[in-house]
Amino acid sequence: MTAPRPTVPSKAAGQVSEARLWARHLAMAQFGATVKGGVNRQALSIEEIAARLQLIEWATGLGLVAFNDDAGNLFLRLEGSEPDLAPVLTGSHIDSQPSGGRFDGIYGVLAGLEAVQAILEAGIRPRRSIEVVAWMNEEGSRFAPGMMGSEAFAGLRPLSTILAVRDAAGAMTGDALAAVLQAEADAVRATRPLGFAPHAFLEAHIEQGPVLEAAGIPIGVVTGIQGVRRFRLRVTGTEAHAGTTPRAARRDALQAAVRIIAHLDSLTDQPGVMFTVGMIEVKPNAPSVVPAEAYFSIDLRHPDDALLQALGDAVHDRAAGLAAPCRVEVTEIAAARALAFPERLQALIAGHAGSLGLKHMSLPSLAGHDARQLHHVCPTAMIFVPCRDGVSHREDEYASPEDLAAGCRVLTECLLDLAEITP
Ligand code: GLV
Ligand code: MN
Ligand code: MN
Repeated sequence: MTAPRPTVPSKAAGQVSEARLWARHLAMAQFGATVKGGVNRQALSIEEIAARLQLIEWATGLGLVAFNDDAGNLFLRLEGSEPDLAPVLTGSHIDSQPSGGRFDGIYGVLAGLEAVQAILEAGIRPRRSIEVVAWMNEEGSRFAPGMMGSEAFAGLRPLSTILAVRDAAGAMTGDALAAVLQAEADAVRATRPLGFAPHAFLEAHIEQGPVLEAAGIPIGVVTGIQGVRRFRLRVTGTEAHAGTTPRAARRDALQAAVRIIAHLDSLTDQPGVMFTVGMIEVKPNAPSVVPAEAYFSIDLRHPDDALLQALGDAVHDRAAGLAAPCRVEVTEIAAARALAFPERLQALIAGHAGSLGLKHMSLPSLAGHDARQLHHVCPTAMIFVPCRDGVSHREDEYASPEDLAAGCRVLTECLLDLAEITP
């Protein structure tokens, strides 16, 4: 699928500007900036709209053409010399966790933009078009589950299901999305039909774990993504007086939730198994009232599908017994098997890292990414760069300007290879 390329880097890699890429990260971090130096830029929020408009302004200033689709994915197109060929896509997401960092997601989008700018400044016209994409709602912290834009694009979840999802305040994804598309109406060229078959997709991302930093290696060639199963559990008991209701008469929903969580935490305490209860809501949430309801999340991950299957099935099978005398309703809101990226693309990334003189290593992704969904529709791969102490989904998340630029240079070379430089 790729044209043979010399092993010396193209002129474009040399045009990647570390300072410009860094400045754009700092500028984007203003949209949803938190006092502790992170960002709260949740999907389809006014902060995200502002960031998307800034991205469109930068891209159209370079001559790229902006499109969105009905799922709110935003595409910024550098037209190739053969515009009818399937484009090469690169990007990630702009939305963040509520106490997120300045690099998760946005790095992949800004690295894509920087790569395209470097290609333009090198005077190179690729044969295939290259499109920088920002997928809608990767994080899923406001409207759950996330990966909405990339799942809709890949045909893995119907758009109608996505649009009906409500946030904690009752707002519907469809209404929030309509506001985004309205805000962008003047800035984009057109709304495209949802979904097509790209030539390939490359996602650059911070590692979000400690491996690259510990090894002192700037480039991670991602081998694949571990599997995940996500649940919501609603435990229902009976509201009662905290001082007068005898223990034997109680149906305490929070105590039942604690039993379920403690049991599953111990069951999943096995090498490599990730078990997280990151959200819990208690009703009525009053100190002197026995809780009538506990609603909580479970995020379960492992690279081995059989083990993930068995442990996830235990959530379904054991919750009711552990909750008694309360009732529990278990909903599995998302599930994805482990995947391996094509070796051909892994070799492409490793080869270009090598020709740029950058140390690289192979590693799996333990976090989920939009690349998981794109893997279903086109050859897909990921490039990781280190982040400080492996910290992510936290306001003090940090990646160095040097490492961000190094990953962008590798991305630039891979994009050119996939898009084929016109002689
Ligand atoms: C993505 O942000 C994840 O939680 O893996
Ligand atoms: Mn991310
Ligand atoms: Mn994230």
